[in-house]
Amino acid sequence: MLFKTSTCIFLASLALFTYTSPTDAHSWADCIDWVFNDPDKVGWGDNDGKCLGYARRYPLGEEFGSLDHANPGRHYQQDGDNAPPCSDGKHGKDVGSDETRADPPERAYGGKYGAMTVTSVNDTLCIRWPAKNHAEDNESNKLRVLINFASKEGEDPKTQEEVTKTFLLDMPYKNCDEGKVPDRRPCGGCFKVPPRGPGTYLLQWRWMLNKVTTLIALFVDETWGGDL
Ligand SMILES: *[C@@H]1O[C@H](CO)[C@@H](O)[C@H](O)[C@H]1NC(C)=O
Ligand SMILES: *[C@@H]1O[C@H](CO)[C@@H](O)[C@H](O)[C@H]1NC(C)=O
Repeated sequence: MLFKTSTCIFLASLALFTYTSPTDAHSWADCIDWVFNDPDKVGWGDNDGKCLGYARRYPLGEEFGSLDHANPGRHYQQDGDNAPPCSDGKHGKDVGSDETRADPPERAYGGKYGAMTVTSVNDTLCIRWPAKNHAEDNESNKLRVLINFASKEGEDPKTQEEVTKTFLLDMPYKNCDEGKVPDRRPCGGCFKVPPRGPGTYLLQWRWMLNKVTTLIALFVDETWGGDL
């Protein structure tokens, strides 16, 4: 049986299901558009860069890696492939925070929430997440973060199955900075924005913990500046 969690936004949040305490078993997408202070120095800590774009209704001003202590926490654990791809705050093994699409999508951004990610075709987007103890040497390297990226604008798909069809790429979960406590180790990965017309699209960040555990969490709406 496969459990999956997901977050919908132009961003991703991740929930992980394990048999350990929820406080150390979840992660989420902390930033969807992380920009390094020095383009030649990849680093995921607060001193290494800044965040320009976030997931839907992502609360600002919280310490990095602390949102598992929020109520509700920033993670959504899906319950099967027919689960909603984004948390609606009601469904899932772990319901997480509401990441349903706003109408218009811009209403889920700004003010007390982080800004929407704005990007262009062929730009590089870097996503950041907290390790939450899962980047240590004894943790599997098979854990991947999957990036699903809608090819059309419009309503969010109803099921994860539909979102899975928009798979773009995967990246290693354990790509993290050294020297921080295992729970708050900052991690991340980058990818090139695929061809899309101008519009607002859903991006999902999804963490596959293992065969019986999937953590997912993220959809992102993005306004594309690129022309095709
Ligand atoms: C993106 O990059 C590809 C490959 O380099 C190029 O063919 C294409 O024209 C680029 N698209 C845009 C919108 O810049
Ligand atoms: C890795 O080691 C830590 C600390 O001993 C432990 O809490 C955790 O459960 C271990 N993880 C795995 C996958 O064995």
